[in-house]
Amino acid sequence: MSIENVEKLVSEFARSLQEETFVKMSLGNYKGADEHLQKLLLRLIETRKGKRLFFLYRYDTRDTAKNHDFTEAAKIIRNLLGKDFFSGHLFTTGNDFQLDIGRKGKSRLNVAKPTFKTKPALDHDHEKKRFVNAESFYLRALGITTDRGEIRDKQQDKWKQINKFVETLDVLFDKSNLRDRKELNIIDMGSGKGYLTFATYDFFKNIRGMDVKVTGVDTKSALVGLCNDIARASEFENLQFVDGWIGDFEVGNVDILIALHACNTATDDAIFKGIRAEADLIVVAPCCHQELRPQITPHEMFKNILKHGIMLEREAESITDGLRALLLEKSGCQTKLFEFIATEHTPKNNMIVGTKQTKKPDAAKFDDEVKAIKDFYGIKEQRLEKLIEEIS
Ligand SMILES: C[S@@+](CC[C@H](N)C(=O)[O-])C[C@H]1O[C@@H](n2cnc3c(N)ncnc32)[C@H](O)[C@@H]1O
Repeated sequence: MSIENVEKLVSEFARSLQEETFVKMSLGNYKGADEHLQKLLLRLIETRKGKRLFFLYRYDTRDTAKNHDFTEAAKIIRNLLGKDFFSGHLFTTGNDFQLDIGRKGKSRLNVAKPTFKTKPALDHDHEKKRFVNAESFYLRALGITTDRGEIRDKQQDKWKQINKFVETLDVLFDKSNLRDRKELNIIDMGSGKGYLTFATYDFFKNIRGMDVKVTGVDTKSALVGLCNDIARASEFENLQFVDGWIGDFEVGNVDILIALHACNTATDDAIFKGIRAEADLIVVAPCCHQELRPQITPHEMFKNILKHGIMLEREAESITDGLRALLLEKSGCQTKLFEFIATEHTPKNNMIVGTKQTKKPDAAKFDDEVKAIKDFYGIKEQRLEKLIEEIS
């Protein structure tokens, strides 16, 4: 094969880096041995060690990435062109260069006017801690991102929610007894389409580099099947989804128990599983609070306030989550109840977190408090309290 045009392209590449006119580069028309590899995309990033080229290897079901210094990068490109990749496209602010290598090694190098007149801003790989990798295959497979790795317009809220959730988990983890652990077992109850389950696995496994096992549990077998397919395609070996009811699922030893938007009392079933298994972290975001509202008989003093349906609904919601937090404290957890993402992104945004403590609490004190609240509102039964009573 004539290597003249390859050499020309590589030297334009090196020159653009030196003269700071480089915009981006891609290699395509892959004919190498890996049946899954499709293209190689290069862009310039700023790292702690200085400027580096970010190589993104795009496979049909996943992406892998590596940084290289300029000399290494030029060497790799020279070795790949004409051997594995048969086209190369270099964009600089001076010109666009398009190399095509045909059969029998004949090649053509086209030089055209530049598509980009200015350089893109450099990404800083140390500027901001990343929680979710937008280029991950599972996000594409779940329809959050497009094939080009861009967040779909309609999925912006979901994307924010996924990021915020993982960021919250990161902080909670560092403040818990688990912070020095290298291995983790996580169960996500009511995993649904698995957005948060996948992101949790990817974060602990690939961003924090831990030996993590994550299990999603849901009654919707079609979703469970789909999630398992995507997990296999992503090569997420220790992520699995199980078809089943939260209340029936044997959790075994679990470090972090998650239940996000599990409907109505399914949240209580999940919290109870976490308490029983002595999970270090229990993280739930409840939704559809239906249990207490029909039981509440407003106190005379609040009669004219709680006669409004919306007020009664909110009161029932607050009392339900407040009682859950108290019952977690009674069970030896320190609790936090907070809004985990602004209501404009999702209305289901309260989060209750229980972090296991070594000191045993005064259970009788919590029993008195819970009883007084129930009596005040005329509540007969609350699911989590009942489940805890059954094992006491
Ligand atoms: C609103 S979706 C939330 C999905 C996911 N956790 C999220 O936040 O994106 C609630 C999921 O919980 C599941 N679910 C509700 N109650 C359940 C139960 N008792 N056992 C298992 N799954 C349950 C439903 O099938 C549904 O997929």
